[in-house]
Amino acid sequence: MSKLLEVRNISKSYVHKDGWMPSKRVCALEPLSFDLERGETLAIMGETGSGKSTIAKIIAAAERPTSGEVFLNGQSLKAMTDQQRCRYIRMIFQDSLRSLNPQTTVGQQLTEPLIFNTDWPAQQQKQHVYDTLRKVGLLPDHFGFYPHMLSSGQQQRVCIARAIVLEPQIVVADEAFVALDPSIRAQIINLIIDLQEDMGISFIFVSHSAEIVKHVSDKILIMHRGKMIEFGTTQALINHPEEQLTKSLLHSDHNYKVPLHSTTKE
Ligand SMILES: Nc1ncnc2c1ncn2[C@@H]1O[C@H](COP(=O)(O)OP(=O)(O)O)[C@@H](O)[C@H]1O
Ligand SMILES: [Mg+2]
Repeated sequence: MSKLLEVRNISKSYVHKDGWMPSKRVCALEPLSFDLERGETLAIMGETGSGKSTIAKIIAAAERPTSGEVFLNGQSLKAMTDQQRCRYIRMIFQDSLRSLNPQTTVGQQLTEPLIFNTDWPAQQQKQHVYDTLRKVGLLPDHFGFYPHMLSSGQQQRVCIARAIVLEPQIVVADEAFVALDPSIRAQIINLIIDLQEDMGISFIFVSHSAEIVKHVSDKILIMHRGKMIEFGTTQALINHPEEQLTKSLLHSDHNYKVPLHSTTKE
């Protein structure tokens, strides 16, 4: 059986233009490859500017690689229609809360992807949105709420609901939870662990928190200046890190202590 995700030699360079100066090519990502099995969760760590978001965007097909390819279930993302890509892989952005539309209800925002990507009758769509609200710890009553009527934790749950409403195989979250206060962030991280277990969704998330990464991820990828310097199972990287950077990233917890589930993958 094929792997869920095969990332093969993806690289990315951008052309920087500074006024009248000649434009120059900047390499954001040097060729890198890795695999992910079904249901596995991957954390991407590294300093600012090391290429983490670039990887996240390429996997979510929000950005095209300069070279290389990404395969999902053995099929190249390039060969898929926008509809297929959007159904299988969803992205939660850093400023996800701002991406909620203040003018439309939660229910409308969750129904929209179903209108565009399924041919389900309206009643089935509505029932599916109710089920999705429950999965993320909200109530069917929230269907008619506008975003401003919800707390920031509930708004984040709506963003997650929107990401999972099409039952994707992968959800990519790029520092999506940093703005939340620690107790709410812990609840959201626990929700992600539950969704991973219940729906078999693979999460790929960019995070700076060693504690969250150790808790949630099966594999870790360490970036440094556009290069993948280490990749392996969470256990291997915690117990036998080869790089000094891996050691320091995984042992700096930024004084971040929260009541997470006890199912640590350490
Ligand atoms: N759209 C873009 N245009 C030009 N350069 C970019 C663009 N996006 C990212 N970069 C550059 O690519 C490098 C990696 O960026 P990024 O993947 O966002 O890093 P990280 O998420 O690890 O902070 C940085 O040097 C950044 O300036
Ligand atoms: Mg980034």
